[in-house]
Amino acid sequence: MNKRPIGVFDSGFGGLTAVRRLRGLMPCEHIIYFGDTSRVPYGNRSRDTILKYARQDTRFLRGFDLKAIVIACGTVSSNCLPQLQAENDIPIIGVVEPAVRRAAALTRSKRVGVVATRATVASGAFQQALTALDSDITVFSHPCPLFVPLVEEGRCRPEDPVIRLVAEEYLLPLREEGVDTLVLGCTHYPLLTEVISQVMGPEVALVDSGAESASALQALLTEQDALSDDGGGVSCYTSDRAADFQRLASLFLGEDSAIQAQQIDISQY
Ligand code: DGL
Repeated sequence: MNKRPIGVFDSGFGGLTAVRRLRGLMPCEHIIYFGDTSRVPYGNRSRDTILKYARQDTRFLRGFDLKAIVIACGTVSSNCLPQLQAENDIPIIGVVEPAVRRAAALTRSKRVGVVATRATVASGAFQQALTALDSDITVFSHPCPLFVPLVEEGRCRPEDPVIRLVAEEYLLPLREEGVDTLVLGCTHYPLLTEVISQVMGPEVALVDSGAESASALQALLTEQDALSDDGGGVSCYTSDRAADFQRLASLFLGEDSAIQAQQIDISQY
């Protein structure tokens, strides 16, 4: 038994898709979420900048007495996980390994697509992890830089002509490659599941990387006998206006209850 909270961070709202799964799997856990909304997106930045931001995010969260951290951000996970793990003495879980394990288990054709930010695709992390698991898998990666700003604008509905057009532009080449499994390597993308599914077709399985990281954490805490039996809850912190965060957070969390958030100055960490 371990009642200490779990820290979760992302560049913005996307990581809340991982929190949604964490809440579903482990409702007794208390989650401290940080969304770096003043500096989103991370996915178009250099590795050095992403690491600097990720260290600050981690330092802020370490101000709480945490039992583990989930990096609910594909960009940070694929560029900085080993450094953050080496610098911290609590378990830190990223989204890459959990997502590729799921994709490798699902694919039959051994043709797997990965959609993510530019920095994630450039890192090659998903591709390397997939082929390390199964060398017969061919990986087709595609950056989708417009997805994050559209999601942050709440443009997620499949009938929205803008998101539809952008999704077709990004995804049709992957469909033509005949992938049967598509990894959503950015935690914002599960908000676009409906439109992505419509473009790719019902026979293509989608892997939600944030949700897979939540399942991986549950397995770890169970193995370590470190689950909580408390009431559970989510405390949200953001680096920009709390009101903006609160407005979109309920959409990402899929919870009706109003989400309260507190603004912090991340440059101090
Ligand atoms: N949720 C982040 C990720 O998974 C968003 C990307 C960004 O900040 O550019 O990569």
